[in-house]
Amino acid sequence: METKVVELNELNLDKNALEEAGKVIREGGLVAFPTETVYGLGANALDDKAVKKIFEAKGRPQDNPLIIHVADFKIEGFVKDIPDTAKKMMERFWPGPLTLLLRKSSTIPETTTAGLETVGIRMPSNAIARELIKAAGVPIAAPSANVSGRPSPTEMSRCVEDLSGKIEYILGGGKSEVGLESTIVDCTVNPPCVLRPGGITLEMLKEIDSDIYIDPAIMGKPAENLKPKAPGMKYRHYAPKAPLKIIQGDLQKTIAKINEIVQNYIDENKKVGIMATDETINEYPKGYVMSLGSRKNMSSIGKNLFEVLRSFDDANVDIILSEAFEEIDFGVAVMNRLIKSAGYDVIKV
Ligand code: TXA
Ligand code: MG
Repeated sequence: METKVVELNELNLDKNALEEAGKVIREGGLVAFPTETVYGLGANALDDKAVKKIFEAKGRPQDNPLIIHVADFKIEGFVKDIPDTAKKMMERFWPGPLTLLLRKSSTIPETTTAGLETVGIRMPSNAIARELIKAAGVPIAAPSANVSGRPSPTEMSRCVEDLSGKIEYILGGGKSEVGLESTIVDCTVNPPCVLRPGGITLEMLKEIDSDIYIDPAIMGKPAENLKPKAPGMKYRHYAPKAPLKIIQGDLQKTIAKINEIVQNYIDENKKVGIMATDETINEYPKGYVMSLGSRKNMSSIGKNLFEVLRSFDDANVDIILSEAFEEIDFGVAVMNRLIKSAGYDVIKV
């Protein structure tokens, strides 16, 4: 299949490309598109056959449900009810990086929700995403636009890398603003429960309902712990090709430990990648070092994480060693993705 690739500017939208891509979706095809979180791979959420193509193009397990993306607040047709707390969250945080799980109505095909009784819905803030949904005239089901298991794409070139030849259309729109996938809140339980941390943090959600909490299963290893309620969180995820190890603890001890491990690998003739920060990048004399950004600005760390992981793959390193971050505010989402990328390989110092 020939994939059409068009780069758009969020501030100066090319209506022709959006109309063309919207038509592809309406007629049952697949379009990768930018959102403020990560790039999505979209299909008509109401078209069972179109949604099946998403699973094929990504190599995604059939039991992993998709989030549907809408461009307006009229979601009554897709759900059985909208609890008051959910309404408040929509008013406060939509459009934006927040997905709400609600009880689904029969208009949403089973394939979209992988047979579950609930559906995840979000309204993206990215203008290209919103205009695409409007042009399509239907809600768009979209997982992240990566081959299943790989780090989510935060740049158009990574969608091309993973999906070229497998889908009809790729829309570009620069680097994703947040860089990590949306926060998912289960609104079918009381109090609501965060199933995936993201750009809308627990602290922000607590302003709506102070009882909202994070599912304790999401940071631990699925086998050792409780089973996460978002099916996707149980798979090996966001993973670079090279194994990743996290070194966690006091920063000076972390640096010393990383340098020690680097030397061991170099002695074995291995190429080592080091995921550092602006504050520490000069502390590593050996190895292939990249910075995620400043420790004083967690949003830049989240924004760069997936792209830096993919860059280590481009550099063909044999192993990646990463510093850790404090699990507060947006740091919870960063550490959640980092720990999963590492397959839970964390060395405490
Ligand atoms: O930011 C995002 O949410 C991005 C962009 C493209 O919008 N999308 C995204 O989709 O991250 P995906 O498919 O890569 O991750 C969706 C996660 C999976 O872990 C899935 O299991 C969970 O959401 N999920 C979706 N619907 C669900 C449901 N009804 N119940 C429980 N978990 C659900
Ligand atoms: Mg994904």
